Amino acid sequence: MTTVPETTQHPAATGSVEQRDICLERVHKRYGDHVVIGDLSLDIEQGKFYALLGPSGCGKTTTLRMIGGFELPTSGRVLLAGDDVTQLPPHKREVNTVFQSYALFPHLTVEKNVAFGLERRGVDKHETKKRAKEMLELVQLGHLAKRKPGQLSGGQAQRVALARALVNRPRALLLDEPLGALDLRLRRQLQDELKRIQRDIGITFVHVTHDQEEAMSMADTIAVMNKGAIEQAGSAEDLYERPESPFVANFLGTSNLIPVTVEQGGADEFSTVRTSDGHALRLLRNRMWNLKGEQPVAIGVRPEKVRLWGADQTPPEHDNVLPAKVLQATFLGVSLQYALKTAGGQELTVIEPNLVGNSKGTFGPGQDVQVSWDARQTFVVEGETAGA
Ligand SMILES: Nc1ncnc2c1ncn2[C@@H]1O[C@H](COP(=O)(O)OP(=O)(O)OP(=O)(O)O)[C@@H](O)[C@H]1O
Ligand SMILES: [Mg+2]
Repeated sequence: MTTVPETTQHPAATGSVEQRDICLERVHKRYGDHVVIGDLSLDIEQGKFYALLGPSGCGKTTTLRMIGGFELPTSGRVLLAGDDVTQLPPHKREVNTVFQSYALFPHLTVEKNVAFGLERRGVDKHETKKRAKEMLELVQLGHLAKRKPGQLSGGQAQRVALARALVNRPRALLLDEPLGALDLRLRRQLQDELKRIQRDIGITFVHVTHDQEEAMSMADTIAVMNKGAIEQAGSAEDLYERPESPFVANFLGTSNLIPVTVEQGGADEFSTVRTSDGHALRLLRNRMWNLKGEQPVAIGVRPEKVRLWGADQTPPEHDNVLPAKVLQATFLGVSLQYALKTAGGQELTVIEPNLVGNSKGTFGPGQDVQVSWDARQTFVVEGETAGA
């Protein structure tokens, strides 16, 4: 175990209380003995696009269903716009949910499907028609208003489901893998459209997905879930540049994680860590605020931030440098991917862009090289890295 130097505060520790739209306070959910959600808290600001991202079975749908009122937490509170709604049924909450299977009424036209919720609530006929029309324009389906669901493509049907949820003017929209059934091209197209719609109407979206690219391209804030807990929440850039756990470091993109022991810092803004075979590496001290000193520590660097040098070359003076051997070099078109092993037995991946003149790669298997990267690009995580 390592000594942890004095740490700074979480850089993202902000957020004003008044703007909170959706709030889960220390929520637990158990089915019998099976703990599905353990002590989960989150705060979503009004008007934000918030993604819950995580692997299958981590508890995303369960979390969303507790916000929507379809599941009751075993303990903890659910607040919408500051009001405790923990015990309220779904129809008394100002949120609407779009599920993966969009379940439109097959015998009703598109416009009747959209108008259905308003009619049921007794909204006046003229107003209902006007709002349904507006919503169909918003999702760019005005021209298909008279069709039946059976005459629509998957993407069109999903947009009808969206219009049907939005027509009720909810405070927030909950989306559970709404694009999951669509092919990749349509998915990307609808991602752009969803983002545009969210910006246009300015309501809070909570979007569940297990697709990291989808979350990164759409969300203001991504909460990465693992085993019923949020491991880290932040912008796509925060999570990519400064992951705080081995899981996040490898769920969003891939990372080179190198186990180290922490040494006390010097006089400048850097701290020093040491690999198991004695190499000193540096990282910005303020990156270390998340260390609790209870678990093994590893530093990390993204594969595209590492450069390769011949054994006789001199990497930039202030870079972190490790000697390594090339195991494999793979041409991937846009890039070259190298698998390497350091002298200490650590496997590393390096990705070099395919620039003019190096499409065949400069280094081949068996060659002794050095890897280097800017110390400022180094992040640090705590926890077991095996299998992460
Ligand atoms: N009604 C239930 N009774 C018992 N266990 C349940 C129930 N609903 C969900 N679970 C369990 O809770 C865990 C989380 O389920 P959940 O549906 O929230 O996962 P998810 O993150 O949405 O996964 P996916 O990406 O596959 O949709 C799973 O292990 C699941 O088997
Ligand atoms: Mg789910």
